[in-house]
Amino acid sequence: MQTIATTTLERRTVFDMLPMPAYIKNVDLVYTHANDALCTLLGTSVDEIVGRTAADLNPTDWSWHEDTDRRLLASGGVASYELNLHPPGREPIRGELFKIRLDDADSVPVGLLGVVIDRTQQFNAEQHLVESQTLHRLVVESISDAVMLLDGAGRFTFVAPNIGAIFGIGVDEAMARGGLAELVSCEGCPLHDLPRDRESVNVECFAILADGSRRELLLSAKPIEIGASRWLVTCRDVTERVEAANRLKSSMIKTVQALCATVERRDPYVVGHQDRVADLALAIGRRMGLDENRLEGLRLASIVHDIGKVNVPTEILNKPGRLSAPEFAIIKTHPEVGYEILKDIDFPWPVARMVREHHETMDGSGYPLGLTGDQLLLESRILSVADVLEAVTSHRPYRPGLGLDKGLEVLAEMRGTKLDPAVVDVCLDLIRNREVTVPGWTSAEPAELLRA
Ligand SMILES: [Fe+2]
Ligand SMILES: [Fe+2]
Repeated sequence: MQTIATTTLERRTVFDMLPMPAYIKNVDLVYTHANDALCTLLGTSVDEIVGRTAADLNPTDWSWHEDTDRRLLASGGVASYELNLHPPGREPIRGELFKIRLDDADSVPVGLLGVVIDRTQQFNAEQHLVESQTLHRLVVESISDAVMLLDGAGRFTFVAPNIGAIFGIGVDEAMARGGLAELVSCEGCPLHDLPRDRESVNVECFAILADGSRRELLLSAKPIEIGASRWLVTCRDVTERVEAANRLKSSMIKTVQALCATVERRDPYVVGHQDRVADLALAIGRRMGLDENRLEGLRLASIVHDIGKVNVPTEILNKPGRLSAPEFAIIKTHPEVGYEILKDIDFPWPVARMVREHHETMDGSGYPLGLTGDQLLLESRILSVADVLEAVTSHRPYRPGLGLDKGLEVLAEMRGTKLDPAVVDVCLDLIRNREVTVPGWTSAEPAELLRA
């Protein structure tokens, strides 16, 4: 009969090669062998294991080992058990323990082989994943923004329940609709066609809900990699903020328009001037690529640009003949006075600065500060061109309107020295292509200059 002792050499060799922790017990359930991996796992040495029993090593848990060992010695074969070890002073070990009955050549039991599969890392990773998923779910559900994931084609792959707070629909309906394009109404929304370069996108747009109400939205799309390429989209309802800002903007514009009406009552020749300048400046600004927000600022500055004339005596404003030098000096105060009137109003655009700069020139010969072109806002340079053209072509107290031909001639003369050449070129092109029509202009036909 073969005994454990006769096969010791072979088994120790096997043990030494085994990467997983393993031990051997004899039929008396005394440990006879323990490999290095087991010692490392338990933080102990071979001498502290061999010659002892489970009761010696683990007094609180020994009966479980003894019971299962005895059953396996009786039945034979292989059994596996969930393992949950708590080595003193060390992190708990989670895994599986395989017990295999060892028989000799005559099928007589000679002991047990135990092999531990340490799954602590896997268990911790799974635990971490569960915690992480729970945390993400709680975060997603606790914020008021609607959160969703899109694939590269803009189709939903995930929609958080809080989508209902903004769009008034549930997750299932959102998923059934397919993608953001089916929820967001505004045309040209960049999220309808996600950028191929996978750059983050932040955009303001709107949605019309089933009840016909309009919701103003702030959308943010960020490319992420979560096994597959996705877009993380958060959608914030900013309706109240936008409506409040619009109300404020509207009352601001009404106040400014009331101030302008005061100027126009004192200077009848200015009636309509600022509005016509605004129309032309907007057309130029739009052609030059200013976005809608900057255009709004340009429009407001245009319709108030001569507000500083409230400070000029009516006799000077309405004087039919040529102005004396002192009178002209008073007229020239109007950009600075306009700046002083507007500078403390909290516009979301540099309106006061545009007003102050509308008589500045590219070569620094303008007023009030003598700034040069590179110091001027683009909006100010646009305003200057529109102002010059309108002033030449409209009636003044001291002369009738000189017509579009003369206006264009003046633009050509001032192009590059006083006026920004790029702005002048855009203005000429708009007129050449009949893309601007300004009521009250006296010349119906463009000048020779435009035919060149
Ligand atoms: Fe002016
Ligand atoms: Fe003006």
